Amino acid sequence: MQRSFFVYTYGCQMNAHDSEKIRGLLTGKGYVNADSPEEADLIIFNTCAIREKAEQKFFSQLGRTGMLKRKRTELQIAVTGCVAQEAGKRLLGKAPFVDFVIGPQNIHRLAEVVSSDRRVETGQDNSDIALREFSAERESRVKAWISIMYGCNNFCSYCIVPYTRGREVSRPGSSILAEAGDLTARGYREITLLGQNVNSYRSEMGFVELLRKIDETGINRVRFVTSHPRDFSIELIDAVTNLRSVCEHIHLPIQSGSDRILELMNRGYTFSDYKRKVDALRDKIPDATITTDIIAGFPGESEEDHEDTVRALEEIGFDGIFAFKFSPKKGTRANDMKDQLDETVKSARLNRILKVQEGITYRKNKELEGTVQEILIEGLSETDSEMLVGRTRTNKIVTINALPGDAGSLMRVRIEKARLHSLSAVPVDLETFTASR
Ligand code: 5AD
Ligand code: SF4
Repeated sequence: MQRSFFVYTYGCQMNAHDSEKIRGLLTGKGYVNADSPEEADLIIFNTCAIREKAEQKFFSQLGRTGMLKRKRTELQIAVTGCVAQEAGKRLLGKAPFVDFVIGPQNIHRLAEVVSSDRRVETGQDNSDIALREFSAERESRVKAWISIMYGCNNFCSYCIVPYTRGREVSRPGSSILAEAGDLTARGYREITLLGQNVNSYRSEMGFVELLRKIDETGINRVRFVTSHPRDFSIELIDAVTNLRSVCEHIHLPIQSGSDRILELMNRGYTFSDYKRKVDALRDKIPDATITTDIIAGFPGESEEDHEDTVRALEEIGFDGIFAFKFSPKKGTRANDMKDQLDETVKSARLNRILKVQEGITYRKNKELEGTVQEILIEGLSETDSEMLVGRTRTNKIVTINALPGDAGSLMRVRIEKARLHSLSAVPVDLETFTASR
């Protein structure tokens, strides 16, 4: 009998892509995908440690799975991802029914580990992982993630990532280009390059050269996450402007609008540095969209600092934000800072930020009504099977009536109606065409 597996995934795109690698590794070893955790012989939790909430979600699901194991003692349970790295052996003490603990820098060992007895694999040497080639089992046939670098050297004072994913290492350009070429040849339309700070990518080539060479593969669309504002350069803005495939959307986490808090966060830029880069981008590409991350209630954040953040939202006019309450993480500097704020203060500030941004997002979307956009169809809408869902180059979600058009086709549409989280549109012509601007 073939053994089967089920993967729970938490957290960022990096982790979602790690889950695709995990699936690839296991199917390569003869495992098959189970439809549900109840049917699986091996359950994997690919975890996220960035905030307490993500961790709690994992621990409560892990608890329920522990019950499952009481009934089926042969069930194996593996924990991968950032909580695995953070908790290591302690996890076995906390949840004795867990069989395997594998940190993100060791996922290439997964198949070997799960065929052994109980084992913890959390060695920290991620320079190795950058040289691995994975054959990921991808969720989509239209768009694909490619890891271009692992780890992080920034040590933002709130962030656990440098401790769980280790130091920054770049994958060789040649191996990234081979992966991109292969995906293009297999009909993929969009590639998203993944790294904690893609602007500091460096191998036998720099990031801009990498983008140029990926553009030459003929892929329709290229995106990249995440950019660090400190390293976001004019050369990169030029690349986004000039390279056919590189999409006009930048995710540029600002975190706070207060220089005092940015300093405490160890971000390495001021609000005006940030604003200057955004202005430079919009100067070259007026229609470019910008999204960001915000942390509400960092230790010591005063009402005034919070107001600075709200003002920053208005001044920049983001197309969308991901905002979070500050969550103290053991082992980071911000965890030990004085003046930790009450949950109620953090919640109130988060709500205010979300509320202000709602107005801005809606206004930005509204501006697109009547415009013609190229969308890449991703598939049927999850809520309405009569509708297709796609995205603009600027990463706005668009729904259209399910006229001809399969996942993977590019279509020109006119935006009819803006909503807060998506736009609805009608096709302008039904011919598909290759991206041109
Ligand atoms: N608390 C709250 N938000 C955090 N982030 C990272 N660490 C923390 C933390 N300790 C947010 C940042 C980052 C995003 C991925 O998660 O905004 O950009
Ligand atoms: Fe965390 Fe900063 Fe690294 Fe992003 S760049 S993962 S916020 S340390």
